[in-house]
Amino acid sequence: MSEQMNAAYLEDYGDLNNIKTGKLDKPEAGEGEVLVRIKAAGVNPVDAAVAKGMLKDAIPGEFPLIPGWDVAGVVEKTGHAARRFQAGDEVYAYARRPLIKHGTFAEYISLPEAYLAERPTNISMEEAGGIPLVGLTAYQSIFDFGELKKDQTLLILGASGGVGTLAIQLAKSVGANVIGVASEANHDYMKDLGADVTIDYNDHHVGEAVKKAQPEGVDLIFHCSRGDSFAQVMETGVLKDGGKIASITKSKPDISDDIEFKYVFVEPNSEQLEHIAALADNGKIRVPISKTYTLEETGQALQEIEKLHTRGKLIITP
Ligand SMILES: NC(=O)c1ccc[n+]([C@@H]2O[C@H](COP(=O)([O-])OP(=O)(O)OC[C@H]3O[C@@H](n4cnc5c(N)ncnc54)[C@H](OP(=O)(O)O)[C@@H]3O)[C@@H](O)[C@H]2O)c1
Repeated sequence: MSEQMNAAYLEDYGDLNNIKTGKLDKPEAGEGEVLVRIKAAGVNPVDAAVAKGMLKDAIPGEFPLIPGWDVAGVVEKTGHAARRFQAGDEVYAYARRPLIKHGTFAEYISLPEAYLAERPTNISMEEAGGIPLVGLTAYQSIFDFGELKKDQTLLILGASGGVGTLAIQLAKSVGANVIGVASEANHDYMKDLGADVTIDYNDHHVGEAVKKAQPEGVDLIFHCSRGDSFAQVMETGVLKDGGKIASITKSKPDISDDIEFKYVFVEPNSEQLEHIAALADNGKIRVPISKTYTLEETGQALQEIEKLHTRGKLIITP
């Protein structure tokens, strides 16, 4: 009989209360793969969407299905021809595979070594586990596409959540100015991370408030929320001529064809994770954790994350 591990898993898509916890086969490190003992797994809105079957036409799944795409942990074994890491190395990764089956809400995962990077060591394992998905999303949106530079202004819609928390700090790391939008309760939090200006989407027409704060306009809009904020911003024309928009929530917004726009869907990238780890080790990135959950509490964690009002990150510690 193969070795077993504890995991949170689904036997069908649907209600988040139906997520089970129990023993499943422990994965093995195949050729070019690394077996990681998971210590911390960030929880993301997409995990709730996966569990409800909302992505099943885009990315196939197989049951029993373990959700979870973020991992920080310790290398337990390396497979044949996997040479980048050794047992005992502390690593982190964004673990999305072409088939959703072996996720990170479990004690172990086996991943191609190319997915992994050494984790930042200046922050806790829990904080490291909260970085990969949101860190790569912010990086690929504001740097790869947005080409954000020193003294440019970035407007982040949804700046206190998982993605926004990383986006503020990555933008500050290159010397950009940041306008962060979230509810009033999160304004001190965003300022503490480095936001120069904060706007409450409940209190203001967000577009008018941005125009007042930055009459010359913004260079890049990073759209990582739902609600009306984006439409309000577009109504007031605060994007500078030649400015860009990256969205991670709307693939085809109603905007002029002249605007350079990209819908970003985050991809694994270990070089970018190495860069983010270096920033964290230099004290430029931290990941405030609002709550940690056990594997048995995975359903609760997913119910909380799907509300889309998390400050910082939720983490599962298997
Ligand atoms: N395409 C991709 O690759 C990709 C990757 C990652 C995430 N996403 C998506 O991006 C979204 C954000 O993810 P996340 O992990 O950062 O979520 P999160 O942690 O729940 O954060 C949501 C953020 O949105 C803010 N917010 C809520 N309503 C708003 C409104 N009307 N206007 C402006 N801000 C508002 C929240 O602030 P308050 O709490 O103050 O309301 C919070 O800052 C989710 O929909 C997620 O599914 C997509």
